[in-house]
Amino acid sequence: MLVYVYLLLCTITFILTQEKPSILYFSKDQVKTVGDSMDLECSVNNVGNLLVRWSRHNFDKYYFTIPLNYRHTKVMVDPRFSFTYIQQNNTYWIHVSDIQESDAGLYKCQIINDYDVTVDQAELKVLVRKHEFIDYKLATSIDARVGDNVKLDCEAIGDPVPSVYWIRANNAILPDGNAEHIGNFLYIPSIRNKDGGLYQCCAENGVTPRARRTFKIDVWGEPSVKIIRRNTAN
Ligand SMILES: *[C@@H]1O[C@H](CO)[C@@H](O)[C@H](O)[C@H]1NC(C)=O
Repeated sequence: MLVYVYLLLCTITFILTQEKPSILYFSKDQVKTVGDSMDLECSVNNVGNLLVRWSRHNFDKYYFTIPLNYRHTKVMVDPRFSFTYIQQNNTYWIHVSDIQESDAGLYKCQIINDYDVTVDQAELKVLVRKHEFIDYKLATSIDARVGDNVKLDCEAIGDPVPSVYWIRANNAILPDGNAEHIGNFLYIPSIRNKDGGLYQCCAENGVTPRARRTFKIDVWGEPSVKIIRRNTAN
């Protein structure tokens, strides 16, 4: 009986210690700016004749797989992508130059067996930041009359999404009494003459240079004079 138990244990040990195909080293998540380059490495162990495949999945179309290599050959057509298989350390190496926003996504390295089943896999995220900019279609000169409610709108685009804040030119205080206001909109309720002048919308997402847009408000009308209409109907 003891012999059987011993044999069973030996078998289990043998199965467990038999080295499985696996990914030994894999690159980390990447945060890149348009125009940068990057290197992605996937080093594998004990893969024998199994397939090792790099693929890209765009964030918005996750289930759409774009293969980058087939065995030791590049299949990605884009010339900015190059693929190298380094035999000495079993590394499947992707190099991407002149990174574009469309290169963002999940990059996956998979070891696939003869039954098309993934034996091991690893994935990393590639984020591509672009310089922020402010929508130039916006009107930047505003005419208002004393007492109008004025709303300035600043659409800042970028990746990561920029944070937007407002300041007044020459370090003046905003109508609400603060030095800056955070948000895409700046409301000036019941505008006064002294609220007229230059306002700046600033957008920042950590990718320099910071974008700025200047708005000019001209306030028309007499200061502190209210026209009170007499109701003559009675
Ligand atoms: C594999 O080998 C190449 C070339 O020697 C080296 O540049 C790379 O860093 C190695 N990768 C790993 C994960 O060992």
